Amino acid sequence: MADKDTNIELIEKIQALKKQRNAVLLVHNYQRPEVQDIADFVGDSLELSRKAAETDADVIVFCGVHFMAETASIINPEKIVLLPDDHAGCRMADMITAEALQRKKTELPDAKVVCYVNSTAEVKAESDICCTSANAVRIVQSLGENEIIFVPDQYLGYYVANKLKREMILWPGYCPTHVKIQPEDILREKHKHPDSIAVAHPECTPEVTQVADEVLSTGGMIRLAKETDVNTLIIGTEIGILHRLKKENPGKTFIPASRKAICPNMKKITLEKVLWTLEDMNPQVKVPEEIRVKAYGAVERMLAI
Ligand code: 13P
Ligand code: SF4
Repeated sequence: MADKDTNIELIEKIQALKKQRNAVLLVHNYQRPEVQDIADFVGDSLELSRKAAETDADVIVFCGVHFMAETASIINPEKIVLLPDDHAGCRMADMITAEALQRKKTELPDAKVVCYVNSTAEVKAESDICCTSANAVRIVQSLGENEIIFVPDQYLGYYVANKLKREMILWPGYCPTHVKIQPEDILREKHKHPDSIAVAHPECTPEVTQVADEVLSTGGMIRLAKETDVNTLIIGTEIGILHRLKKENPGKTFIPASRKAICPNMKKITLEKVLWTLEDMNPQVKVPEEIRVKAYGAVERMLAI
């Protein structure tokens, strides 16, 4: 880990190169604190895809995981999308392949496929519409009575189905980071802090979301923390979000439900890698046009809602 002076030097070089390349730095809420601090915009998956759709920069440096950079490239085929570490994948996204989804669609030819944005471009290309944790309920609602295959997160799918009191066919994927949060973690912290509110990400298991007071995307948690009069919040998601929560709400207390909730892929992006990616203009994320056009349909339908 770099010391403070090295960080200052790195940040100056990044800022200069960013200007030279006409680049924008989009950063997810789970990124390392020092990476969040140099962002042009920090947000959840939905907010970041909207920013990617709006930007007039020539280059998008995506500090997040592979599917997020891919989504930016699906929306902006003419732009260069850089992912500072191309090994920063999402283990949930790897729990489904386009071939496996095609087989499921053959079994259920009338069903609509709703695909969580945490998926590869190939899987998006096989889907009718995308969703994120921030809009999943609204997206499913927009499909009326249709039979739905929800991929790949069974827990987000379960949460939506339960909220809308309907059935859906759920793909058995899950986030290995969020399943580390246990209901006892929330209950223990609630007991210690009786005046707190507990929030959980919908990627947590149903046992956890059932004992939480609110179930929200990371962007939703950021908004709630600002708006609520409650001073202590128990946070049931990846702990990288605590940096922004504390920075934006210095008078409030944020307690991680579990310190085990760390996504190793989100932590792969460092300041050094951000500098190198701008120097080398590599690694780039580019989706083959044939897949991009199909995947764009699913992303565009989501952004339109
Ligand atoms: P958000 O869209 O809520 O930021 O979630 C992204 C993610 O990968 C959660 O694990
Ligand atoms: Fe994927 Fe989970 Fe990491 Fe989010 S926290 S990027 S769902 S592995």
